This record gives sequence, C-alpha cells and structure tokens, in this order.
Amino acid sequence: MRIDIVTLFPEMFASFLDGSLLGAARRGGILDVRLRNFRDFAVGVHRQVDDRPYGGGPGMLLMPGPVVECVEALQREDERPGHVVMLTPGGRRLDQRVVEELARRERLVLVCGRYEGFDARVRESLGAEEISIGDYVLSGGEVAAMVIVDAVSRLVPGVLGDAESARQDSFSGADRLVEGPQYTRPREFRGLEVPEVLLSGDHRRISAWRHEQAVAATRHRDADPSQNPVQHSAQPQRSAS
Ligand code: 6GU
Repeated sequence: MRIDIVTLFPEMFASFLDGSLLGAARRGGILDVRLRNFRDFAVGVHRQVDDRPYGGGPGMLLMPGPVVECVEALQREDERPGHVVMLTPGGRRLDQRVVEELARRERLVLVCGRYEGFDARVRESLGAEEISIGDYVLSGGEVAAMVIVDAVSRLVPGVLGDAESARQDSFSGADRLVEGPQYTRPREFRGLEVPEVLLSGDHRRISAWRHEQAVAATRHRDADPSQNPVQHSAQPQRSAS
C-alpha cells in the first residue's frame, strides 16, 4: 500500500514512521509512506499558503492553490489513483469500520490542515472525503494522519507478525466487542487475584468467560452518556474550529 502525507510539517512524522512496526514494514517494501510539503507548491517570495477568510472572522485559512497542486502532482506520480482524505475536525468520525474501509484501498493521500482549516474548494477540487478522529480540536491534522497510518497499516497483510492478532483486537471481528480484562504474572498483585477460570486450563470455560467479559465491557462503554454528546447536551456547543 502507498500512503502520501501532505503537510506543512513533515518533520513531525520522522520518529513515528521510522519506529519499530512501521519502520520494518517500510524497509520490507510492504508499506510505501511518503511525505510532501505543500509549501513547495506555494508561489511568491513569501511562499504563502494561508490567507484571511472572506467575510471576516478570526485566524487564517489554507489557500486552495498550493494544496490542490501538490495533491495533483502526487496523483500523477502513480497510475493507481489515490483516495484523498482531508483531516478535519468536522469530517466523518474515524472508527474501526472506517479504518477497514481505508485499508482496502491500494493508495491513500492524507492531507493535513493547519490554522482554521481549508478553503472549501480544496475538497471540491480534489474529490476528497473529510475524516475526523474524534470530537475535540487538534492544532492540525498531522496527529490525526498518524492515527490513520497506524490503524490502517496494522491491517495491511504482512505488517503485523501474527495475522490473527488484528482480528482479535477490540472493535474487530463479527461482533465488534471491546476486549475484556487480561492478566499476566504474578497470580496475586497487592491482594488482587487473577480470576480462577483463567488458571483452570479449561479452554471452553475460558473462552466463554472471555466472551462474557467482552460483552459486559462493551455494554458498560455504550451506556456511558459522555460518549454521546447528543444525549447529554440540549444545546451542543460548536467549537471555534
Ligand atoms: Cl482530523 N484535525 C483537527 N485539526 N482536529 C481534529 C481532527 C482533525 N480530528 C479531531 N480533531
């Protein structure tokens, strides 16, 4: 899989991309991740990429020219058309289903915003989709792009050592349950014991217990009103992003 990351701050990605899992996958040729600074496509002595919003308002917006031309240049580099994703707080919320959908693409182009966001014509010109990693505001799309690269690359065949470990993760598999509690040594820690069933050696009982625990953990989480802003706030507050 090829992933192009379009950003004003490529240096933010260095240790992340060179780290153990991703670094090995890239060196092994399984993942081809490239960084491109769209300031290289800015014109004029100041290489300006942002400007004040029409109609007024605080902050600066990313001008359409440099970002759009940068992505178009990247698209021309490869016969596989890249699926273009803009990282914005108002986009489609990322979850494991979206991650699986992205992982089925041969090529992704992740476009990171800064300042107050993009000129609306960037999305239109690029036929991009917008994705958010959650309902909070980051100072830019870079961290969100790293979240996507991390979650997606785990699903690319050959990136994880054990193909089974991704299927057994939380939110994965047919039932999409979160994982229940797990234990390792010691058997007793500060008076807290490992559940007896896990020491029983009875694999049917262990597997039934784990499923029960996963269902309980999933229910507990879904019942938490703080996970659902629509139910606990009569007037949702819009952030200034
Ligand atoms: Cl993708 N970008 C920014 N700036 N903030 C976010 C986000 C993205 N997702 C959640 N918050």
